[in-house]
Amino acid sequence: MIRTTGLTKVFRTRDREVTALDDVDLRVAEGEIFGVLGRSGAGKSTLIRCVNLLERPTSGTVEVGGRELTGLSASALRAERRRIGMVFQHFNLLSSRDVAGNVAVPLEVAGVGRRERKRKVAELLDLVGLAGHANAYPAQLSGGQKQRVGIARALGNDPRVLLCDEATSALDPETTRSILALLKDLRAELGLTILLITHEMDVVKSICDSAALMEDGRVVESGSVTDLLTRPDSRLARDMFPLAATAPGRGSTVLEITFRGAETAQPFVSTLARTYNVDVNILGAAVETVGGRQVGRMRLALDGVFEDNVVPIGYLREQGLQVDVVQDTGSAAANGGRLHVVEGGAPDLDEPADPLTTPATPATAVDAARKEA
Ligand SMILES: Nc1ncnc2c1ncn2[C@@H]1O[C@H](COP(=O)(O)OP(=O)(O)OP(=O)(O)O)[C@@H](O)[C@H]1O
Ligand SMILES: [Mg+2]
Repeated sequence: MIRTTGLTKVFRTRDREVTALDDVDLRVAEGEIFGVLGRSGAGKSTLIRCVNLLERPTSGTVEVGGRELTGLSASALRAERRRIGMVFQHFNLLSSRDVAGNVAVPLEVAGVGRRERKRKVAELLDLVGLAGHANAYPAQLSGGQKQRVGIARALGNDPRVLLCDEATSALDPETTRSILALLKDLRAELGLTILLITHEMDVVKSICDSAALMEDGRVVESGSVTDLLTRPDSRLARDMFPLAATAPGRGSTVLEITFRGAETAQPFVSTLARTYNVDVNILGAAVETVGGRQVGRMRLALDGVFEDNVVPIGYLREQGLQVDVVQDTGSAAANGGRLHVVEGGAPDLDEPADPLTTPATPATAVDAARKEA
């Protein structure tokens, strides 16, 4: 749906040059909510402004809905841009106009007649839950209501794509949740594709299907949120599910276990301890709901070096869990206390786990963790 290829933007001022975007290849599928994260100055706003060509890229191409915007004439570009709505952090409402007047702006620009405009404005206000506020002025609205006006305005020309630049950053957590829920509903109802920029991990966790992390104008990580979680080196996953870096004792094997969906229903920790008679020490755990599925990570320390634990690790993998061995012995001191992946990937045991040992009573991993702790 949205595709940028080799997108580069260099800002040149009198005394310096800033590469705000450096060879960015972004792929946003139709109907997806895609989050872009990154520190201040990473190039997020520049990216979003290049997607609708408010900012002309220095090089590279932008395609939206199969049309390459970078090759269009000015008038064709204006028409395409109408199908791309934009929502801003600070709402950008006209204080001299009431709610209905603000929502009508893009319709006026597009030359929509008075009667149709009125009908459309009423429909849009209804859609964003502001039906009773048509004649209120921005100064009389809360932040969340102002953003609802901003969203209604962005939907004026029936866009296929909505670009949101920090749309919830000026709002409190509860209002943020209600605006995110609205975006999700609008996606379902209107079939929108949403590209949003945020610096809040919670936003990504609660509504994004996919995400990208930007750093110094480059996309350093991207993919579906649940896939990112299973990459042991994913910074996004680590930021979403921070585990305390507890240093285990010497002579232990530290595992990082990632589970998704149904796997969380398995009390694998207690089964592991029972079946293999190993001491399991839980160093950290985080479980959340992402895209309607339970996902999480857990860091465990098993007694003994890696070779002692090959069989229990094989058992965990047989359960469909992603298991990464982040440290094979008590060498925390040797590598400065930093954990690193030393072994990971597909199950590598010849012997499958004994089906009789698989648990009969489902419990969540967290339940199991609590029991063990
Ligand atoms: N019009 C401009 N002229 C010159 N430099 C610019 C311009 N717009 C952005 N930049 C520079 O490009 C880089 C990326 O800016 P951008 O606004 O895209 O960052 P951002 O990730 O959106 O940051 P924030 O989280 O603070 O909004 C920054 O170094 C910024 O100073
Ligand atoms: Mg920005």
